[in-house]
Amino acid sequence: MAKPTVRFAAAQINLSLDRHQSSLMSLVPSWSERIADNDRALLQELSYGVARWSFRLDAIIARLMPKPLRNKDRDVHALLRVGIYQLAYLSIPQHAVINTTVAVTAELKKKWARGFVNALLRRYQREQTQIDAEVDAQAGAQAKHAFPGWLTERLQEDWPEHADAILHASNLHPPMVLRVNAQRETREAYRLKLADQSITATASTVVDSALTLSSPCRVQLLPDFEAGHVSVQDTAAQLAAHLLSPQPSERLLDACAAPGGKTGHLAELQSAATITALDNHLKRSVRITENVDRLGLHKQVTTVIGDAMSPKSWWDGVPFDAVLLDAPCTGTGVLRRHPDIKLLRQPEDVDNLVQIQQRMLRTLWPLVKPGGRLLYATCSLLKCENEQQMQAFLTDTPDAQVTAFPTSVRQTAWGHEREYGTQILVGEHGMDGFFYCLLTRDAGGHA
Ligand SMILES: C[S@@+](CC[C@H](N)C(=O)[O-])C[C@H]1O[C@@H](n2cnc3c(N)ncnc32)[C@H](O)[C@@H]1O
Repeated sequence: MAKPTVRFAAAQINLSLDRHQSSLMSLVPSWSERIADNDRALLQELSYGVARWSFRLDAIIARLMPKPLRNKDRDVHALLRVGIYQLAYLSIPQHAVINTTVAVTAELKKKWARGFVNALLRRYQREQTQIDAEVDAQAGAQAKHAFPGWLTERLQEDWPEHADAILHASNLHPPMVLRVNAQRETREAYRLKLADQSITATASTVVDSALTLSSPCRVQLLPDFEAGHVSVQDTAAQLAAHLLSPQPSERLLDACAAPGGKTGHLAELQSAATITALDNHLKRSVRITENVDRLGLHKQVTTVIGDAMSPKSWWDGVPFDAVLLDAPCTGTGVLRRHPDIKLLRQPEDVDNLVQIQQRMLRTLWPLVKPGGRLLYATCSLLKCENEQQMQAFLTDTPDAQVTAFPTSVRQTAWGHEREYGTQILVGEHGMDGFFYCLLTRDAGGHA
């Protein structure tokens, strides 16, 4: 049987996102296995690009076709998105784009759509300049920045002076950032190793573990990757372990740990600390073990599958010196890495996530020993998940105090210091959007 074509796969992926069935992280690998090997890079480009620009592509399609297709023809609509995306954003010869995209109508078993898709793509090809200008002139960010209306409104409400910069930065391709394993070698030594392979990298001024590559590359090309000398992790995410700053012989809890990015970093920073890495997602938890094994840090880390909101099933009753709560969140700070969030996230998810974060904070706080600390982190830009969440928690928790970050991490000014925590907006210092607030429990420990 013939393999699916890359454009068919891209349209099916976009259709699944539209139906909120799955995410790019699982759809792209599973479709990649089914198409020709040499089309995999194009599938990645099409899947992420079409997701990133779907709202704008829809505004273009609406100009070309005022009456939307019926619900049962959403697959044809997804194919149109794939076609327009290539014409608007890629440098593939346009006749090839049109021919290969139109041919997918047969794979969809919708031959009636052949002439229609062909006519629509050709019209866009002819009128692109004018249509693009009309779409740019449309009110709101939905068309121009390809953002869902509800999210644009929330960002404008929370960050009125920064909203345009956030929308712009969220659509740019993110940098590939490495974290050098301090237990294996220094950052400078690793930078020189990269230079030997003609890979250029710049040292971050925010954290002393991060190197930003001048252009992304496959991890297999990174020297000593398999031997655990480096991991791929955004600079903003690397701040977590530095801010919690594990000390010798401390017992740490990483409460939402999978796939183990921050767990590994905590272990790298302090070889004499022990870490319980908890997550309730079985498949993702396997990745924690794989990651710490690769880093050679398995002796320090115990992976536990369990619910952070019911510690009875996994906690031995001995309080932790420090807890990292990298809470499930809207992911609005990492849209540039996960553009499918624009299609998948719904306004009602925000309140649900705020409730979950609140329950996690309240459940985990008693597990922090008196005098111990909890670092609350999200990759969200929304105040209700961040500073307002902290304010509500502190109001109800008399033995919790906001604490200054360790001075070693404050060498370069980063983020927006708020009354409750620090917010990094996406793109600042080249980083993902993140929020951090470090809390200390009073030594008296009255709850
Ligand atoms: C932001 S991600 C964590 C990323 C991770 N800290 C890292 O750096 O690689 C949030 C995690 O919370 C986990 N999670 C969600 N609800 C949970 C719960 N009730 N108990 C434990 N983990 C949960 C998810 O499975 C997800 O892996």
